[in-house]
Amino acid sequence: MEQSVKIPRKEYPKVAQTEYPVNPLIKERWSPCIFSSEPVEKEKLHSLFEAARWAPSSFGEQPWNFILGFKDEGEGYKKILSALWSANQAWAKHAPVLGFSVTEVTFHKNGKPNAHAWHDIGLAMGTLLLQATELGLSVHQMAGFYPHKVIEACQIPDGWEPVAAFAIGYMGDREGAAPELLARDESARGRRPQSEFLFWNEFGKSWPG
Ligand SMILES: Cc1cc2nc3c(=O)[nH]c(=O)nc-3n(C[C@H](O)[C@H](O)[C@H](O)COP(=O)(O)O)c2cc1C
Repeated sequence: MEQSVKIPRKEYPKVAQTEYPVNPLIKERWSPCIFSSEPVEKEKLHSLFEAARWAPSSFGEQPWNFILGFKDEGEGYKKILSALWSANQAWAKHAPVLGFSVTEVTFHKNGKPNAHAWHDIGLAMGTLLLQATELGLSVHQMAGFYPHKVIEACQIPDGWEPVAAFAIGYMGDREGAAPELLARDESARGRRPQSEFLFWNEFGKSWPG
């Protein structure tokens, strides 16, 4: 069912329960599956990618490129949607904006492999996500796609690779949403504790703080 109702983020009980204080945007960001089909204002989209633009990158290479498709325009959107795994298509098909991040696998300046390009795209997406949260928008990223399909459908040239797909939009009304999507969107959120990943002096030794 198409949803055009925008739901304010605060109506979802998904705010992160953090162990230490963090910026409210970090607490409020999450990845919904129930999107409103209401189009996203172009100005807001530009703000998202402006945030991505100002992310740091190895040697300042800025290896991020993004391809967007708009539901209300059709063709490009269908190409992106067709490259997703069906489990992702099931919810992503309602989002008004779909896209892919794409990276150049070598440094632009010297042609050598850029092992940090994927890291830098992740940083750019990270800043984009917080800007989206600030503007009341949600972003749901996807690794579940067929690279060969997006390469072909979106004519990605040699030397470039699709990194992740994403859906952007406002959250949709839970009323009438598919039960399995509702269950996902209402599920509790959790994270590994810092003691499991924050080490001190050597790998595996928890920092006692
Ligand atoms: C690189 C990346 C790939 C992801 N791939 C998928 C995906 O294919 N399908 C999906 O439903 N969610 C996907 N997710 C969303 C994650 O499952 C989600 O971010 C994670 O469960 C944490 O939930 P939160 O974002 O709501 O905090 C992906 C997230 C990232 C960052």
